[in-house]
Amino acid sequence: MMELKELLSRFDPVTGEIAGAPTTRRHLEDLRGCFADKAAFESAAAKGNPLIYSVATVETAGGEGDLHFGVGLLMPGRIGDEYLMTKGHFHAWRQAAEIYFGLSGEGFLLLEDEAGGESQLVPLRSHQAVYVPGTTAHRTINTGSAPLIYIGVYPARAGHDYGAIVGRNFRSVVMERHGQPELIRRQDLRTP
Ligand SMILES: [Fe+2]
Repeated sequence: MMELKELLSRFDPVTGEIAGAPTTRRHLEDLRGCFADKAAFESAAAKGNPLIYSVATVETAGGEGDLHFGVGLLMPGRIGDEYLMTKGHFHAWRQAAEIYFGLSGEGFLLLEDEAGGESQLVPLRSHQAVYVPGTTAHRTINTGSAPLIYIGVYPARAGHDYGAIVGRNFRSVVMERHGQPELIRRQDLRTP
């Protein structure tokens, strides 16, 4: 039997931290190349390198059939008209699905099937759970004015593949248009 400290985790739904768990923090410079408006990125980067998001993870059990989970905290804001977001990833083990539970804040999961086709924007906020199927790239986007905090639960075997996204980015972006988030295909973006 696993010990209680391995069975029970205490997370802070305000800071997104899990007691005793490692936390990955991504700052603005870590997301260089992710945002569509390069000039707006450089302008923001010239002012500083703020925290954009953090993910605290509990990855204790690593066997076949085990689960891992993480608590994410994504700051509000925009680079140009594009909302702050995570890098996004596929799972290294492509078949691995994941479930996101919104804790607080307002945002979306941007989902894209590896094989092509339409991008899908699924709301993520408190009292909502989002199923992310396997072979689907997923990125969290904060469209609200407060931090977006959520939990993701995934197979221990899932792993993360960021490289596939770094190469081509997502096919769609989420921009503020007339005060509302709008999903726009990258190829349809007007370049100033
Ligand atoms: Fe994931």
